[in-house]
Amino acid sequence: MNQLLAHIEQYKKEITAIKISSKEDLESFRIKYLGTKGILKNVMGEMKNVPIDQKKEAGQLLNEFKLFVESNYEALANSMETTSVKDKSNLDITLPGQPLSVGSRHPISIVHNKIVQIFQRLGFSVAEGPEIEDDWHNFSALNLPENHPARDMQDTFYISQNPDWLLRTHTSSVQIREMEKGDLPLRIICPGRVYRNETISARAHCFFNQVEGLYIAENVSFADLKQTLYFFVKEMFGTDVKVRFRPSYFPFTEPSAEMDISCLICDGAGCSVCKKTGWVEILGCGMVHPSVLDNCGIDSNKYTGFAFGMGIERITMLLYQVKDLRLFSENDVRFLRQFTSAI
Ligand code: PHE
Repeated sequence: MNQLLAHIEQYKKEITAIKISSKEDLESFRIKYLGTKGILKNVMGEMKNVPIDQKKEAGQLLNEFKLFVESNYEALANSMETTSVKDKSNLDITLPGQPLSVGSRHPISIVHNKIVQIFQRLGFSVAEGPEIEDDWHNFSALNLPENHPARDMQDTFYISQNPDWLLRTHTSSVQIREMEKGDLPLRIICPGRVYRNETISARAHCFFNQVEGLYIAENVSFADLKQTLYFFVKEMFGTDVKVRFRPSYFPFTEPSAEMDISCLICDGAGCSVCKKTGWVEILGCGMVHPSVLDNCGIDSNKYTGFAFGMGIERITMLLYQVKDLRLFSENDVRFLRQFTSAI
């Protein structure tokens, strides 16, 4: 037992004095003390020579020694790691770093940015407004009084705390807010998310993104409207695309129209996307109704204006030939990864 104690003390001294400077040194330490034929095993083997009445005490001693060797080994291994990082000679600063995956821009954002850029070149600036609106800005000011049947065109989500509040169904509400400020002439586009209580399908969703536009000044005519939208279409879809206007109805514009472009998928020949007509509708537009101007405190005898509104999803689907609207909000990276853009 005394011999065992002496051995252990001796080894402890040895171990405490050890300095290592390489991985090889560390490995020899491990083999010498912790290996299958190493010192620890050896010392443990001495247990059998200890008299029975001292075995308990010896067991404790040996256990402590075991922990001592193991913790010293770990400490040496840790110090090796830190010194090798500190050791500049081992550090190759020319190695490329860990790559960061940055993802890609959402197709809706790409097209949103493209639309904004095109209109900015024509002098339009971006205006934004709240997604939770009141009845006035979303409906009444837009010539849609309560109980007007045209309110059914846009199935609305109301907010239960206050019957006057709703999720905006279009960004025309932003146009009202801007007109109310009274800074004329006014040339704005209003991009943003809008909400409608529609059954979700490949062609409709309960929320989507719009860009609406508004130009109010003296002597603005339908010709200005057409020219602006022609420019937009050519910039967006290319010069080969054909455009047509169809008379339509919106309570806030008079006259009103819908604009179609020749189908990009079949080039006008007729396919499932254009429902065999060769045309696809991309936006609604018209001359701002004089009552809307009056509602916002603008002199409708002096000023005229045009407005238009389009869904960004629709434009994106045509541009990238995406067949299902739901893909835009499902966050499936296999879909989203396919769109890259410098914008
Ligand atoms: N606000 C209309 C809609 O969301 C679009 C539109 C805007 C139509 C401006 C005409 C003029 O359906």
